[in-house]
Amino acid sequence: MRGVNNKMLLISGPALQELGKNVAELLKTNTVNVVFKRFPDGENYVRLEGSVKNEEVAIVQTTSPPQDTHLLQLFLLADLAKDLGAKKVTAVVPYLAYSRQDKRFLPGEAWSIETIAKLMKTAGVDQLVTINVHANEILKKFPFPAKSISAMPLLAEYFKKMGLEGAFALAPDEGAKEYAIVADRILHGGYGWRHKMRDRYTGEIGFRNDKFDVKGKDAIIFDDIISTGGTTAAAVKMLKNQGAKRVYSACVHPLLIGDAEKRILENGAEAIVGTDCVPSHVSKVSVAPLIADALGKKEA
Ligand code: R5P
Repeated sequence: MRGVNNKMLLISGPALQELGKNVAELLKTNTVNVVFKRFPDGENYVRLEGSVKNEEVAIVQTTSPPQDTHLLQLFLLADLAKDLGAKKVTAVVPYLAYSRQDKRFLPGEAWSIETIAKLMKTAGVDQLVTINVHANEILKKFPFPAKSISAMPLLAEYFKKMGLEGAFALAPDEGAKEYAIVADRILHGGYGWRHKMRDRYTGEIGFRNDKFDVKGKDAIIFDDIISTGGTTAAAVKMLKNQGAKRVYSACVHPLLIGDAEKRILENGAEAIVGTDCVPSHVSKVSVAPLIADALGKKEA
C-alpha cells in the first residue's frame, strides 16, 4: 500500500490504545491489534491478532498506575512477539515507572529501575524509547540501547500559543532545571529553579528560601512528574507569595494521585497542563509526533 511504512509493525498496549493509534497514523505503519483482559483473580491475558513473524515491532505501552500491571502487560507482549518470530522489539514506554529509584539511596534498597531494565531484556526488548525519564544517566546502564526524548518544548509551545510568551519558567527542584532552561528558549521570560531537600526515610520535602524575579509576571512551573502534587503545590504557593500574577503548572507525566490536582489549584494555580504520556483530563499536549519522529529515524 502506498505511503505505508512497511518497516515496522505497531502494537498499542492496553495502557495507551489511543496514543499508539495516533503514532501509527502519523507513521503510516501497519498495526497488530491486542486482545487483552484481566481474569477475575487479577491475572493478565494478551493475544496478538496478526502475524509478527520476521517483523520489527514497536510496542507502545505506558507504565503509569497501576504500574506493575502495565509493566507485566509489556513483558507479556514483548515475550509473545519474540516467541511468534518478531525480529526486533522496541518498547515505547512514554512514562517509565520506577525511574525515580535510580540509585540505592539508602543501604539495602532495591535499585528498582535496574531490575525493571533487566526484566525488559529478559522479556525480549531490544531497545527502549521513553519520554523525559526522571534521570537520563540511568539509561546508559540499560542492557540495550535506550533513549529519552523531551516533551518540554511541546509544553512550552502550548503555553506560548495560549499567549504566555514572556512567562517566567520555574523548575521545582535542581534536577528539573534543564526543563526551565529549555522552556525559556521558547518563552523568553527568564527562568530559575528551587532547591529541594528530601528526607529519604520519611519522604518529607523541604525547600531553601529562593527568590525569583516574578513580581507582576506570569509564571509556569515545569516538572517531569506530578504525583501527590506536593512539589508543585509548594512552588505555586511560593510564586504567589513572591507576587507572581498568574501561575500555571506544566508536567509531562500527570500521575495526579489522590487530591494532587485540588492541592495545586487550591494553592493558586490557574491550570495544570500535561501530556498524553499518562492519559488524563489534563493531557492537553500529545507526544504522538515526538514518538513517530523517534521511531521514524533510522537508528530506532
Ligand atoms: C522528583 O524529583 C520529580 O521530578 C517530581 O518533582 C516529583 O516526583 C513530584 O512528586 P510529588 O508530586 O509527589 O511532589
